[in-house]
Amino acid sequence: MTKIIMIASLLFVNIYANQLTQEQILGKTLFFDKNLSQNRTQACATCHNPDSGFIDDRDNGVAKMASMGDNGTSIGDRSAPTASYAKFSPLFHYDKKEKAYVGGQFWDGRASTLEDQAGGPPLNPDEMGMMGKKEVVNRLLENLYYVSSFKKLYGNEIFNNPEKAFEALTKSIASFERSDEVSPFDSKYDRFLRDEYDLTALEDLGKALFFSNNNNSCSSCHVLKGEDKEGETFTNYQYHNIGTPVNKDLRTKNGAKRLDDGLLANPAVTDKTQRGKYKVPTLRNVAVTGPYMHNGVFSDLKTVVEFYDKYNNTQRSINPETGKKWAEPEIEDTISKEELKAKKLTDRKVEALVAFMKLLTDKKYEHLIKE
Ligand code: HEC
Ligand code: HEC
Repeated sequence: MTKIIMIASLLFVNIYANQLTQEQILGKTLFFDKNLSQNRTQACATCHNPDSGFIDDRDNGVAKMASMGDNGTSIGDRSAPTASYAKFSPLFHYDKKEKAYVGGQFWDGRASTLEDQAGGPPLNPDEMGMMGKKEVVNRLLENLYYVSSFKKLYGNEIFNNPEKAFEALTKSIASFERSDEVSPFDSKYDRFLRDEYDLTALEDLGKALFFSNNNNSCSSCHVLKGEDKEGETFTNYQYHNIGTPVNKDLRTKNGAKRLDDGLLANPAVTDKTQRGKYKVPTLRNVAVTGPYMHNGVFSDLKTVVEFYDKYNNTQRSINPETGKKWAEPEIEDTISKEELKAKKLTDRKVEALVAFMKLLTDKKYEHLIKE
């Protein structure tokens, strides 16, 4: 029975994978495989669902703010970012010219590459919970397709050394994450650049505001290449503290007590002035990957834009989601105040920025956008 399901699911993967290489098809199968978790309940796709913008769309009792692990009890303290477009983050490094940390995977860049990243969740007790690399490799050996594919792609001896076999697993998952299927660049914005879509007046205003470095802030952090450039990923991959408040609802549920140090929690970083900074996230697919920020503290895109506006507009003192004053930043002293300076936004400009961000949704997720 399980064999039939396995063959059926492989066929399913293959039909939709006509553009993928053998290694990417293997990686995709692994990405969906719950057998790589201790109780066989959880795959990468559980927390990065390709049908929902590669995020965790389960409720978990914490309104999608964070993820529950394979043990059914652990709830993390950070929200699962989209795995789409993650391949464009450069290797984690310190840029001497910019005097800034750049790149890496995770909110704090602690995995330098997609391969390093993919090796984390299977062994993380709060996620997939496997005891060690050998245990993961034993699960691979249960599956004839894996055994033959690994030997074909990585050599006949690959299973003699669990370290090497585990490394091959991370390689194949990363190769799937690098496929065009995960980063298709077919949003309305991309279609607009190819002359296949006309912007509405509101979207056009949003675009002008978003890219303006004159009276608006977004472009100082969320632009890499520039206005109307193909392949824009909407992050410069640097790290900033924008004053995100603690998510008290989440903390009540997961019991976490310590403040999140952000970039300073990355073992490669010891400089205290990096505390509370997070990697600037891509805005691709952002309209369908809420709730927002590293801890999911805001539910709506409009709230996020009003949150930025509060730095420049005394009339924006209320969080529309709580009806109360904006909560204090989790960490105050490292906020990027200079970069957050901008002209205040009218309600129409707020709407325009939201409309612009909705344009960044890949075609297959357009039906998920809330009006
Ligand atoms: C239990 C839920 C869960 C599982 C299972 C899981 N992830 Fe994640 N993933 C997360 C969370 C939460 C983060 C952010 C954690 C952080 O930044 O500290 C994350 C971060 C990432 C990132 C970084 C994206 C970025 O822009 O920084 C990638 C890529 C990723 N995961 C891929 C994977 C792969 C591949 C697997 C399977 C091997 C996997 N994840 C399994 C929850 C999960
Ligand atoms: C100083 C750099 C900076 C500026 C300026 C900036 N952002 Fe951000 N943005 C960030 C960082 C860093 C985060 C993540 C913060 C966190 O998780 O605490 C973020 C998060 C977001 C998110 C949530 C994304 C997600 O996946 O959770 C959205 C949406 C967003 N920004 C849009 C904008 C818009 C629109 C503007 C202009 C009005 C803007 N940002 C200006 C750095 C910046």
